[in-house]
Amino acid sequence: MQPTVQICSLAILFAFIFQVNGNSTILLKPIQITERRNYKNSINFQSYHIKQQQPRGYMIHGHSEEFVKLPGLTMTFQHIMPVLYKIRFEGTCFSTHSSQIWLYLRLMINDYLFYVDKFVPNAADRYRYFRGDTGNDGIDYVGGLYFYSTSPTVTTCGFSNIVSLNPGFHIIDIGARSGYLMYGAFPVQVIGGILSVEAIQFDTDANIGIPTLNILKKDGICVSQQTVSNIKRNIGLQRNSVEKIRFSWQRPVATPSTVLKVHKLTSSNAEKRRRRALRLYRQLANNRYKNFITTDESWFYLDGTEGKRKVCYIKKSDPDYDRMILQQDSSRPQGFMLWVGISSYGKTSLRFVKPGVKINSDYYINNILKPFLSRDVPRLFSNKKKNKLIFHHDSAPSHISKKTIAFLNASKINYVKPEEWMPKSPDAAPMDYSIWGYLKQQLNKQKIESLNVLKKKLLHEWTKMDQAYIDRVLAHWPKRVFLIHKAHGFHVEHRLKL
Ligand SMILES: *[C@@H]1O[C@H](CO)[C@@H](O)[C@H](O)[C@H]1NC(C)=O
Ligand SMILES: *[C@@H]1O[C@H](CO)[C@@H](O)[C@H](O)[C@H]1NC(C)=O
Repeated sequence: MQPTVQICSLAILFAFIFQVNGNSTILLKPIQITERRNYKNSINFQSYHIKQQQPRGYMIHGHSEEFVKLPGLTMTFQHIMPVLYKIRFEGTCFSTHSSQIWLYLRLMINDYLFYVDKFVPNAADRYRYFRGDTGNDGIDYVGGLYFYSTSPTVTTCGFSNIVSLNPGFHIIDIGARSGYLMYGAFPVQVIGGILSVEAIQFDTDANIGIPTLNILKKDGICVSQQTVSNIKRNIGLQRNSVEKIRFSWQRPVATPSTVLKVHKLTSSNAEKRRRRALRLYRQLANNRYKNFITTDESWFYLDGTEGKRKVCYIKKSDPDYDRMILQQDSSRPQGFMLWVGISSYGKTSLRFVKPGVKINSDYYINNILKPFLSRDVPRLFSNKKKNKLIFHHDSAPSHISKKTIAFLNASKINYVKPEEWMPKSPDAAPMDYSIWGYLKQQLNKQKIESLNVLKKKLLHEWTKMDQAYIDRVLAHWPKRVFLIHKAHGFHVEHRLKL
């Protein structure tokens, strides 16, 4: 690397790090290592940032599976090159009573929890990202702070992590939670905490990135508008500038079947899921799921990335869904949407959408719902069964538009209303938790060269799909929905073994 280039990029980096410090951050003078070396992973500079917990005492009330952020410690950084950080928290843990308390502290970056070498969503079921673990208490003592006491205790509690962050904006926090649920829920305090962040390395050739999980998609990173405004201000952008805050996570490359999708749930979404799940469970329980016909559409496309072509599908719930469609529109179409549905009395016909076309309300009504009502329903349901029939689809925009709802109202069919279906719930939709994955699995065993062949194979697999399998998938439906209710609306595993 040319020394001049290096010095120049270093200057830019410094400029950013200086600017991003709010006035409550004490910025110590960066210690610059004068001797610069030109070999890889050399330490080129150090800079040091400290922040104090504010207010000084923070009480964590009782049990929670998710981490809350300790107030006052948030620090933001932006840089244009990868930076290796040493991040350290030191505070005092304080329990005033003789009850059992458990406390966990952990580094959070961009709202994700950092576990030694990976980022994991701050969700109640995050232990699923660790092979063999069945609960969070088994993973949360690794790499963060774990404090347990049965008597009044004051003790120093601290931990440090080394983490390499890609270019972009980063929000650093310390998360805290207390457990276990089954032993009661007693308060514990963290007081006088200090967060110190040390940038210890900068090197354009550095290849020390911590692998991020595939679930790290931009929509999974929840940042409030206020945080975005603060970051913009900190780096000298106008609050209302349209310039987008760019996060550094890379787009996942794995196909959906190998990616565990997790949709970050806001607490209000989780609460909606909890409430609506109970209601839906009552509709599904005692074999009443047999009255349902559940339908969905999915994108199937040919993906030539791995030498031999693979069939992929992408769900509406996928954050990359719109991007896929944009790509389809602007380049040669490589895929199409497929609509289908299943019930205890059999499956609907397949409805293929023209390659590259996304379903809108008109299309949905005219090309999907009308043929569904005039052909599939009479074929699958006798008149007597038809009166009890409940039509299910998720809350995709074309499903819940005024036009579509008016059409469904006029058609006199019973249907799951938008306000009854749970937000972000592929784990509660049979097509999502089983059927799409099954079809894709079958297709990927075969060589498929073109969209026409893909259609033929889909038709073949659909026809071949056993009703006994569909019955098993549907029989799991009430159970899953009940589990969601029991899990307070948080996600249950997407692909339960059937
Ligand atoms: C920090 O900002 C506040 C409000 O903007 C100001 O009143 C205070 O003097 C500043 N403190 C320092 C140390 O600059
Ligand atoms: C559809 O029917 C429901 C009641 O079943 C009603 O609340 C809703 O306003 C109707 N919507 C439209 C667009 O007709």
